[in-house]
Amino acid sequence: MNDKIKISASLACADMLNLEREVRLLERAGIDLLHIDIMDGIFVPNYGLNMDIMRALKRITDIPMECHLMIHDPERYIERITEAGGRYLSVHYEATLHIQRALALIRRNNMKAGVALNPATSIEVLDYIADDIDFVNLMMINPGFAGQKLIPAMIRKISDTRKYLDRRGKEHIDILVDGNVSIDNIPSMVEAGATILVGGTSGIFRKNHSIEESVELVRTLYHGN
Ligand code: DX5
Ligand code: ZN
Repeated sequence: MNDKIKISASLACADMLNLEREVRLLERAGIDLLHIDIMDGIFVPNYGLNMDIMRALKRITDIPMECHLMIHDPERYIERITEAGGRYLSVHYEATLHIQRALALIRRNNMKAGVALNPATSIEVLDYIADDIDFVNLMMINPGFAGQKLIPAMIRKISDTRKYLDRRGKEHIDILVDGNVSIDNIPSMVEAGATILVGGTSGIFRKNHSIEESVELVRTLYHGN
């Protein structure tokens, strides 16, 4: 089991008109990762950040980029994501016919390999790819848009996934939770076994609160775990 909870700031939720300032505030707050949502408008009806923004970020910060591809046939982009500076990459199980091949390609490109699961996707799909992943990205909401509400069954899905992996001797695999990782939801998510928290509009980029204040508060919420 990982004893250090990581915070990954969902940059798509930052102030786009002041991105460098936001990154400096995130650096000062000591967040661990930058969550980079990239979407194709087909797998999800939305777009997000892109590889040009990743290249610009790579020029100004050393915070590792943890990329979340909400893209059909993500294999097409894996090499370009690593070239743009990606260090972690999760691709959706539901977005490719060949998930094991995609995960192996992510590792061949020297990135930590993650599989992202939509809320309704069973954790049984992890059975024959548990050796190919470094983390699981459990969607707490339906992917594509920030600001949605947690699907309650997802808390049970976190604990089921933790037990499922631990029974297979995979205690080292991180569970990343993505979507409405809010001040109210974090304690139960961490209690259930989440080890990487994606901070978006309800966690790190809250209205009327500074990034520093939000990160500090998030840290206190899991300090005991
Ligand atoms: C949704 C993205 C999430 C989202 C998180 O498609 O994968 O990363 O931006 O935003 P909140 O925390 O506001 O749900
Ligand atoms: Zn995401």
